[in-house]
Amino acid sequence: MAQVQALLSDPSPRQAPEAHQEYARGPVSIRFGLAENHYADWPEPTCIVADGPYGVIGFPGDAHTPASLADWYEPHVKAWSERATPETTLWFWNTEAGWAAVHPLLIANGWEYRCCNIWDKGLGHIAGNANTRTLRKYPVVTEVCVHYVKAAQFKVGGATLSMQAWLRHEWKRSGLPLRLANAACGTLNAATRKYLTADHLWYYPPQEAFAKLAAYANRHGNPQGRPYFSMDGKSPVSARKWAKLRAKFKCELGVTNVWREPQVSGAERIQGARSGMKYKFRSLHGSQKPLKFIDRIIRASTDKDDAV
Ligand SMILES: C[S@@+](CC[C@H](N)C(=O)[O-])C[C@H]1O[C@@H](n2cnc3c(N)ncnc32)[C@H](O)[C@@H]1O
Repeated sequence: MAQVQALLSDPSPRQAPEAHQEYARGPVSIRFGLAENHYADWPEPTCIVADGPYGVIGFPGDAHTPASLADWYEPHVKAWSERATPETTLWFWNTEAGWAAVHPLLIANGWEYRCCNIWDKGLGHIAGNANTRTLRKYPVVTEVCVHYVKAAQFKVGGATLSMQAWLRHEWKRSGLPLRLANAACGTLNAATRKYLTADHLWYYPPQEAFAKLAAYANRHGNPQGRPYFSMDGKSPVSARKWAKLRAKFKCELGVTNVWREPQVSGAERIQGARSGMKYKFRSLHGSQKPLKFIDRIIRASTDKDDAV
């Protein structure tokens, strides 16, 4: 990862660092300031890590409840959607209720839900500090890091198709029977069943398989409809471009969607009062994210030189 375009900010005017203050070390650069002031000049993101308001009065200006979170996030989600490509992954951190409030907004702006990862801080998080008789609920020891991708969309006439629908549409348009996808890929029945199915058992064709499908349709399909599997109407999508039409994901072995890790403590926990603040804090932030998690999600969804 060469570029990290990140925010470390406090949105209260008296403490906001200079809008274009930048921290740089080696290939990594981190900009301070309000996110909305930076979106336009950041490079296209391969990965977006959002850890904004939770609606828990977490910082000056934060809402008191998750109810208004969707309104708060709307301009941000729109900006992410404008800059994202089909290679982009979004990791959206929040409380469960905060995420529930923002999820419909993300879906409406073209983000596809992949998985909800749960940070389980464990019993130590509430030790001696949860009176369930008064609270009348189970003690909360979790936050979520929700995984979204910006799925590729294909324009056909006036319609917008998903990748699955487009593959099937292009093959059918070539006039070839669906079963010939197996001949194209050199399989007995896996190619037709996996790549051209209309149901939920659909699989993304890897680069080589896509190249074979496209070459076969363009060679044997009805000459009048050529080119098939093209996005520009001039030539078929190349295998290289095809690989860039979906988000990266490299799964660490043994990791599930439950991430058990205590609240950050010790040397990793950033201590001290915020300058200019009336009260001293033992920790700078009430729920600092473990570096381990940020490392995990960036590694899972980027390659070297990608922008985060
Ligand atoms: C949940 S906290 C982030 C915690 C941090 N990621 C950590 O692990 O310690 C949300 C942060 O978003 C910041 N924030 C609020 N509005 C912002 C904005 N418009 N642009 C950038 N940051 C903002 C707040 O100052 C607050 O520190």
